[in-house]
Amino acid sequence: MSSLQNFAYPLGGRLVRRFGYGAMQLAGPGVFGPPREPATALAVLREALALGVNHIDTSDFYGPHITNQLIREALAPYPEDLVIVTKIGARRGKDASWNPAFSRGELTAAVHDNLHNLGLDSLDVVNLRSMHGIHQPEEGPLEDAIGVLADLRQQGLILHIGLSNVTPTQIQAARRIVPITCVQNLYNLAHRDDDALIDSLAQDGIAYVPFFPLGGFTPLQSEALSSVALELGVTPMQVAIAWLLQRAPNILLIPGTSSLTHLRENFAATQLALPPQALATLDRISQTTRQETPR
Ligand SMILES: NC(=O)c1ccc[n+]([C@@H]2O[C@H](COP(=O)([O-])OP(=O)(O)OC[C@H]3O[C@@H](n4cnc5c(N)ncnc54)[C@H](OP(=O)(O)O)[C@@H]3O)[C@@H](O)[C@H]2O)c1
Repeated sequence: MSSLQNFAYPLGGRLVRRFGYGAMQLAGPGVFGPPREPATALAVLREALALGVNHIDTSDFYGPHITNQLIREALAPYPEDLVIVTKIGARRGKDASWNPAFSRGELTAAVHDNLHNLGLDSLDVVNLRSMHGIHQPEEGPLEDAIGVLADLRQQGLILHIGLSNVTPTQIQAARRIVPITCVQNLYNLAHRDDDALIDSLAQDGIAYVPFFPLGGFTPLQSEALSSVALELGVTPMQVAIAWLLQRAPNILLIPGTSSLTHLRENFAATQLALPPQALATLDRISQTTRQETPR
């Protein structure tokens, strides 16, 4: 696969291509229950690998269990180079709510559930998803939970540990206990709170994996984004992806989609180079968002 910006970067002790795939959109509406079109969900996963994707992001709390079961059905036995990253720290209520699940027993059970549903003997990378804040990072201790993951790593059930929805202070504290291979936080061209963090992680060779790279449940919309896309003859989502790839070398992408057409469109953005004028226009989007969003 020759792609302008799809060079490999270390993740979980291996090299992955920078364009990966986030599986959350494969579950049913509200990330709950089975997909509306199971055959399409399987086809999307297989097409991702056919395009060269070798990094898939998932969790057993998508569905729950559904996306992991789809990944197993579509892709097992897994190719040697595929890195599957899962996350633990939450459980779904019967009402589809997202609840913290941080006790030793809950974290251990979550690892075993992921192993079972993915059909694996060990998990490549497990992200601890902080629930101190549900929607954005909030300070609070993670050391006990990291200690549990470190124990599970000792047992060989987990190979590498990552963090999600965390602050720089929490990352520092975790790194005093175990090596951290990646950080997964909300980041896209309209939400750039982690700009400084990304650069400092890059210096340490730690992957930064933005979730909601396209805006998540409310895909990015902005006049500036649309105008850049129009000028370059591509779609706004392709611009959003190319911008992330150009933003920093340690950014790994996991855009989510339940659509084969969108998957192919998103992948094509790895060929797109944004000229300086476009980058300057796109930089202004986050400045506008900051002014408009009380924090
Ligand atoms: N750690 C965390 O707390 C956390 C939180 C959220 C997500 N994640 C992970 O991050 C991954 C990415 O986030 P995400 O999937 O929520 O959000 P996203 O990648 O920002 O956006 C997904 C949304 O964009 C749409 N989309 C994708 N490609 C498109 C295109 N070319 N044109 C128009 N619409 C397009 C999708 O709809 P279609 O299905 O119709 O394409 C879907 O509604 C997830 O899959 C999950 O693995 C982690």
